[in-house]
Amino acid sequence: MRAWAVSILGVTGEFDVLPTVGSKELVALLPTLLDAQSVLYPKIAYPTYLVGAMIAKAQPQEVDIDATKWPAANLAWVNSPSNPTGRIHSESELKAVIEFSRRTKTVIASDECYLGFPAGAITPISILKVAAGDNTNLLAVHSLSKRSNLAGYRAALIIGDPALIATIREVRKHAGLMVPLPVQRAMTVALTDEVHAAEQAARYRNRRSVLQPALEAAGFKVEFTDAGLYIWCSRGEQDWDSVSWLAGLGIIATPGHFYGPAGDHHIRVALTATDADIASAAARIMQAVQV
Ligand SMILES: Cc1ncc(COP(=O)(O)O)c(C=O)c1O
Repeated sequence: MRAWAVSILGVTGEFDVLPTVGSKELVALLPTLLDAQSVLYPKIAYPTYLVGAMIAKAQPQEVDIDATKWPAANLAWVNSPSNPTGRIHSESELKAVIEFSRRTKTVIASDECYLGFPAGAITPISILKVAAGDNTNLLAVHSLSKRSNLAGYRAALIIGDPALIATIREVRKHAGLMVPLPVQRAMTVALTDEVHAAEQAARYRNRRSVLQPALEAAGFKVEFTDAGLYIWCSRGEQDWDSVSWLAGLGIIATPGHFYGPAGDHHIRVALTATDADIASAAARIMQAVQV
């Protein structure tokens, strides 16, 4: 796992690695494990960041991308590529997050579970790659659920600040949730093979190239969607109206407000259906807009 962190993520300097039971579980429990009293998370985000803060009874606060404007906190979540928007943070945005952390001593948890799925020209990078070898207060959160399609194994890992990881390991030692050895072995195998990960990435890219033009033909404007497993788009209408229109064609999309009130005019369309179902959905949309 260390070798993967160095060769694929580009981590330098001192760091530690800890396998975790799932990354959802880690996201939900990290504020508790770190005894965080205040947690920042993106305005449009994976809901578990907020739920984790609530479990810890910490003060949650949603923030924009620009870290120069963030208030000091105990823990801040970054998610690039983002679920649901597919937005990739630029190197300078990540550096601003690191500078914020150095200045305020806020722990940064960078959820990078979609890092292996670029959709176009922009390549997502790990926050640890731009930390210049000083990983203090930085954690990168990774999962094999998407990269290696191993969601059922609950195989994930955190990488970063050795002191923070030692604290988490110490608490978790007593709380349980250790990753079973056979799963750790499977993780090692999956992380030493980039071929299957590239195939998986190509699968999502192909599905996107089938579905995105159909959604655009139906008047949806695709935003961000630079990486990941989702298409984030809007027809300028209330999210439920877009969801109902697609439901009428037998297609299930997620209303954007599930990811925060700011998303209430967007929908998230997942590329996790089979190739055949994605092709059928695209054909149904095209048929609907042509009549
Ligand atoms: C941003 C983000 N983080 C974490 C997870 C959790 O994934 P898992 O628990 O399967 O590792 C998800 C799952 O959809 C996600 O979208």
